[in-house]
Amino acid sequence: MDFRSALKHGIAQLRAADIASYTLAAELLLLHATKRERTYLYSHPEAELTAEEVSAYQQLLDRRASGVPVQHLTCKQEFWGLEFEVTPDVLIPRPETEHLIEVALDRLALRELHAGRPNKNDGEGLLIADVGTGSGCIAVALAKEMPKSRFMAFDVSPAALAVARRNAEKHAAANQIEFIESNLFTSSSRSPLFDLIVSNPPYVGRRETAALAREVRDHEPELALYGGEEGYEFYAELIAQSATHLKPSGLLVLELGHDSLPAVQPLLDAPHWRNVAVTNDLAGIPRVIAGERASVVDKPRQA
Ligand SMILES: C[S@@+](CC[C@H](N)C(=O)[O-])C[C@H]1O[C@@H](n2cnc3c(N)ncnc32)[C@H](O)[C@@H]1O
Repeated sequence: MDFRSALKHGIAQLRAADIASYTLAAELLLLHATKRERTYLYSHPEAELTAEEVSAYQQLLDRRASGVPVQHLTCKQEFWGLEFEVTPDVLIPRPETEHLIEVALDRLALRELHAGRPNKNDGEGLLIADVGTGSGCIAVALAKEMPKSRFMAFDVSPAALAVARRNAEKHAAANQIEFIESNLFTSSSRSPLFDLIVSNPPYVGRRETAALAREVRDHEPELALYGGEEGYEFYAELIAQSATHLKPSGLLVLELGHDSLPAVQPLLDAPHWRNVAVTNDLAGIPRVIAGERASVVDKPRQA
């Protein structure tokens, strides 16, 4: 079988199995099975696959057709221009989480500007927490942007932390990030104050389970998905703990579920928070909320 007919065969099988983005999936699996780059596929369509490659490709197609996500078959996903290892122990990094990185970098740059410092932030002196680090994609992406910043990356899942550590090593960021097994901040023996806390928390509602794509429902870790019956329950404790772990004027940047904003925004309205702003994703869905811990909480006025 040559590359052209292998690709055609893969596309037909995945389309018949009702797989989303079947053309891209077939292409990625063919490249993975043959350990080739995309340019090879299109410059050598007549090249023959070996028998081993045909068999490996067919097995991948069968698994994808049965619902296994492409990323669990290729063991990788790109995020912020970097390739991350992915296993069934971690959430597959999503493109919308890149908005969280953008907002965190923008807000830090703005703070530097307001403080009269040069608008070039290498992260010198910054201590950052990533709560629910999963694959480590957020901490690693920010570490690469700010090579002098330091991180504490928390996750309740030791299996996820093992993947995150490997990703940090792969991207030469391990010296910047300490990985800590912890329920939010509570199991950490140390509790320093942070300049920035970022988190993409579990925010899917248990009541939405039946509506989830089977790739998500049956293959991604429950711990990474569900925030409670409604989905937004996790935010209350995360925001309350973050308030006690931020320096005065420290920043909190959180990813939002598609319908979390009405429940989450009031949690940041208290006098403990200021400069709260919401950023939409490319689909126009409120995706990131960011706020600053007030340095001095105003006392209520006497009547
Ligand atoms: C939605 S995933 C985000 C993973 C990664 N940060 C990303 O953006 O792709 C949420 C992560 O939070 C972790 N998690 C769930 N409950 C937690 C808790 N109580 N304390 C710390 N981490 C928790 C999960 O194990 C999972 O890795």
